[in-house]
Amino acid sequence: MINSANTSITEEQIKILLSYAVLAPSSHNTQPWRFEIADGDVSLFADRTRALPVNDADDRELTISCGCALMNLRVAAAYERVGIKFTITPDSDDDLLAVISFDKESFISKDEAGLFKSIEGRRTYRKRFSTKEIPTTMLNSLCATASEEGAWLEVIKLEGDRQRVAELVSEGDSIQWANPSWRRELAAWMHPRRKGDGLSMPGLVAPIARVVVRTFDMGNGVGAKDKQLADESPALAVLGTAGDNVRDWLAVGQALEKVLLSAHSQGLQASYLNQPIQVASLRPKLQNLLSEKGFPQILLRLGFPEYEIEAAPRRRIEEVIN
Ligand SMILES: Cc1cc2nc3c(=O)[nH]c(=O)nc-3n(C[C@H](O)[C@H](O)[C@H](O)COP(=O)(O)O)c2cc1C
Repeated sequence: MINSANTSITEEQIKILLSYAVLAPSSHNTQPWRFEIADGDVSLFADRTRALPVNDADDRELTISCGCALMNLRVAAAYERVGIKFTITPDSDDDLLAVISFDKESFISKDEAGLFKSIEGRRTYRKRFSTKEIPTTMLNSLCATASEEGAWLEVIKLEGDRQRVAELVSEGDSIQWANPSWRRELAAWMHPRRKGDGLSMPGLVAPIARVVVRTFDMGNGVGAKDKQLADESPALAVLGTAGDNVRDWLAVGQALEKVLLSAHSQGLQASYLNQPIQVASLRPKLQNLLSEKGFPQILLRLGFPEYEIEAAPRRRIEEVIN
């Protein structure tokens, strides 16, 4: 436990909390965050050297990923009974997104503390889920979790709408894979596991896989596979926000990670089918299928996992702290 009777928190203790922040999910596992510790506060910066200009031209997903890291920091602090206060500062000229201070006097959320064990257990689960249905009460609780963070989560219920979403996913795959720049960007983030970031694969396979991805438009095959995954998913759900600016993206990042941790704490895992949001021309078509108003940010499939899967690698904590 970090917090004994004393009121302050040391730099070493802050680093322990940050070692949980960096276990957050991020697009292509880019881990696009940087932290500065000064006078007992932490500043969270977007690391735009890790941006994905083709897949994520506005740094929307990059900012969402930083929001996920902020949620992990909040959960770890709550678990350690360290109060946390943070100010969102995305209007500044630089890459500063939030300033976090630690304060024993401030409110500690028991609900957030209860999610701590899921920080290490959550995975992006890209395999098929078990066919077991997800109880409606569980899905409703996830929707409530998203709204606590200023976002909405809408479960796609009607069979016709689910099919339409699955088609949009496969259409998104076709558009993305047909673009050589998108394929080059994806290939550039296919790394051997030891590198500590990116979409990891065994060292011997990585160079060949990169050449294949760069060279061949596999949109049809990937689209068919993703459509099947969407069709078979026990739940398909869209996480969204009323607005679509940096503040919304940070909010939806925190909502995403809270939903994922909460889902994991109830035995679920999730993965992403974001293609109809990443491809700008498809985003309004996805929005048209929803009752919630605003902007879809993340398309999730959720279910009960059938297999244990290895955790994705992370960079060493020293690499992300200045
Ligand atoms: C904003 C965001 C977008 C993502 N988009 C996708 C995606 O389109 N497809 C996918 O397979 N994974 C996606 N991911 C998952 C990441 O690839 C994953 O978090 C990363 O590889 C680390 O693995 P982990 O989540 O198991 O820790 C996304 C994650 C975030 C936070």
